[in-house]
Amino acid sequence: MKLFSGNANKSLAEDIARYLDTQLGKCVVRRFADQEIFVELQENVRGEDVFILQSTSYPANDHLMELLILIDAAKRSSAKRITAVLPYFGYARQDRKPGPRTPISAKLVANLITEAGADRVLTMDLHAGQIQGFFDIPTDNLYAVPVMSRDLRANYDIDNLMVVSPDVGGVVRARALARRVNAPLAIVDKRRDKPGESEVMNVIGDVSGKDCILIDDIIDSGGTLCNAAEALLNNGALSVTAYISHGVLSGGAVARITSSKLKELVITSSIEPTTAVQTAHNIRVISIADLIGEAVSRTALEQSVSSLFD
Ligand code: R5P
Repeated sequence: MKLFSGNANKSLAEDIARYLDTQLGKCVVRRFADQEIFVELQENVRGEDVFILQSTSYPANDHLMELLILIDAAKRSSAKRITAVLPYFGYARQDRKPGPRTPISAKLVANLITEAGADRVLTMDLHAGQIQGFFDIPTDNLYAVPVMSRDLRANYDIDNLMVVSPDVGGVVRARALARRVNAPLAIVDKRRDKPGESEVMNVIGDVSGKDCILIDDIIDSGGTLCNAAEALLNNGALSVTAYISHGVLSGGAVARITSSKLKELVITSSIEPTTAVQTAHNIRVISIADLIGEAVSRTALEQSVSSLFD
C-alpha cells in the first residue's frame, strides 16, 4: 500500500500515516508561474494499492485540481488500484438543480474524479447520503458520529443532554448521535412564511433546562448554527454546544462563533484548521485520523468498512 497526500491537509495525512505505521509517499506538488499544478510521484507505484489523501476544501478548485492530477500521475505510473480519500468532499452542497439552467456540481466532480482514474472513493459525512450514488465506482461514506459521541461522553455530563438538528434535513444524523448517547432529540425548523419576510425559527421539542448539542455536517458562514443556538437559548436551553463534521468556516465565521453564545464548537480534522480556528477560545478540533486510517487499512485488506459503525 502507498499513501500520498496533496497540500489540502498535510497534518491529517501525517496522522493517518502514523496510525497505519507507515510514511507518506514522497511526491512534489508545485506550481508553474501561471499557477498550473505540476505533480511528481517520487516513488515507484507500479502494481501498488495507492491511496491519495486530499480534502477539496478552500481553495476548493485548486485542491480539486491537485487531486485530479495526483490521480492521473498514479494511473500513468501503473498503480494497481487508486483510492481517492476525501475526508471532506467539497461541491457536495450543489447536489440538485435549485432552478432551471443550473448545474449539479457534485455529480460533475464525481465524474471528474472517476474520469481521472480513481477506482474507489473513501469520504466522510457526505452532505447528502445519496451523493454516494453519483459515483459509478465503489464509494465508502464514513460517519463521524462515533468519534463525536466518544468525545461527548468524555467531556460532557450526558444525563442532561438534548441532541438538536439545526434543520429538518439533518434529522437522520442527529438521531444517530442521540441514539449513541441515549438522549432525546429536538429539531429547529426554519421557516419563511412569505417571501421577503424574515425567517422564523421554531423549536420542535422541549429544550428548557437542557444542555443542547447541535449536530450538522458543515459549518460555513456559521449563520445556521448561530441562529439555531439563539433560538434554543430563547426557548430556555441551559447551554448550547455544536458538533460539526466539516469546519469550512469561511469569511467572518470564526469571529461570529467566538462572539456567539455557543459554549463550544467541536469540529473534526477533515479540513486543516487555520490559525484563527486553533486560537479561538470556544472552538476545538477532534481528530478523525484513526477513523480514516482504519478505513484505509480495511480497504487495503479487503475487509468490511461498514462494520466500523456497528
Ligand atoms: C445545510 O444544509 C448544511 O447542512 C449546513 O447547515 C450549512 O451548509 C451551514 O452553512 P452556514 O454555516 O453558512 O449557515
